Amino acid sequence: MAKLALNGGKPVREKPFPRWPIFDDRELEALRKVLESGLWGIGGRFKREFEEKFAAYQHAKYGVAVTNGTAALEISLRALGIGCGDEVIVPPYTFMATIMAILYVNAIPIFADIDPETYTLDPRSIESAISERTKAILPVHIGGRPADMDSIISIARRYDLHVVEDACQAWSSEWRGRRVGAIGDIGAFSFQSSKNITSGEGGMVVTDDEDLYMKAWSLHNCGRLPQGLWYEHHLPGWNCRMTEFQAAILLVQLERLDEHTRRRMDNAYYLDSKLSRIDGLKTLRKDERITRNAYHLYIFRYNPEAFDGLPKTVFAKALQAEGIPVSIGYSKPLYKEGYLKYFERCPLSCPYYGRHIDYSSLNLPAAERACYVEGLWLPQYVLLGSREDMDDIVAGIEKVKENLDELTEPGRCST
Ligand SMILES: Cc1ncc(COP(=O)(O)O)c(C=O)c1O
Repeated sequence: MAKLALNGGKPVREKPFPRWPIFDDRELEALRKVLESGLWGIGGRFKREFEEKFAAYQHAKYGVAVTNGTAALEISLRALGIGCGDEVIVPPYTFMATIMAILYVNAIPIFADIDPETYTLDPRSIESAISERTKAILPVHIGGRPADMDSIISIARRYDLHVVEDACQAWSSEWRGRRVGAIGDIGAFSFQSSKNITSGEGGMVVTDDEDLYMKAWSLHNCGRLPQGLWYEHHLPGWNCRMTEFQAAILLVQLERLDEHTRRRMDNAYYLDSKLSRIDGLKTLRKDERITRNAYHLYIFRYNPEAFDGLPKTVFAKALQAEGIPVSIGYSKPLYKEGYLKYFERCPLSCPYYGRHIDYSSLNLPAAERACYVEGLWLPQYVLLGSREDMDDIVAGIEKVKENLDELTEPGRCST
């Protein structure tokens, strides 16, 4: 009789992991206050309060609350004056919005590889990607794990480049005690519904630079100036303002973030200790300079050779059937995605740029291996569970490993 749930056996776990998003009476009360204020958009107090509190929480001087993380990235690039013909160095192991923001401003994404042991931008891959057109490095703190900001800032200084942080998965993450977002020139956060603090959608630009702040503020508000006339538009901005409803919810969500981050980190360390003992699994490399990790994703590395050659896609399906919500994560490096063909004429072969970028021959080995072979993710809400929940994850993995014959023998697996 089949043991694996994928083949009809009893799953390791039938109860759900903690549900996400989490809310209580405080969010309901906050929404009521906004409704009663009559100020649901411009002129209310919640957006301003959230900008100040969130920026301070991330150790940044200024914040601009916007519609989503993609807008936050685009505004960050525009505020720095990055546009036509400029190159931005970026990892291909990220959500497509990171790249779209660069293309939206008519700049060129230049892909550098990720570190095979951390999945963040590999400083060793950055320098060879720099050209006389390079204007910025855009590291992504993937899954909440800060990129190597010491090396990135030092390369940026040497070549006089800007640093834009994609912190869309990294609220509260810290690099040597400094929270991410404004370690570089400017950074972007997302509050979309899967995120560790959420209002369904939403984003934030943070920076320590007053001039960049003023530009970002104007860009998110139709090019206006804080003291200017309503119908006076100084920058090519558009309406990207966060609503009062979102800001009021996020102020409450922020109150839970410290406690939630502690819980996620505790459980992540526990999983690290358990999974690293399983032959064929590796956790991401420890780095003492990471003093806090948001763990938006718990990423671990799967070696099919230790699992009788079973591809990670089938391993993930078997584990999901056991009641463990693992995912294969990004399934291809972003330079292989179909959306790029829409940018072939402009900006990728724009006469102003004067070159033609062809990503078809690009092969960044660490990113390819992470996508195709080894990267597996657990979502953040799983890490809000109990020790017993974590033990179920380990038990699910061990069960699949012990019954690999059910998946690898021809004709036995029902997938
Ligand atoms: C790494 C990364 N960058 C950018 C974004 C874009 O954020 P949003 O979906 O809020 O536009 C996301 C959101 O999923 C993300 O994970």
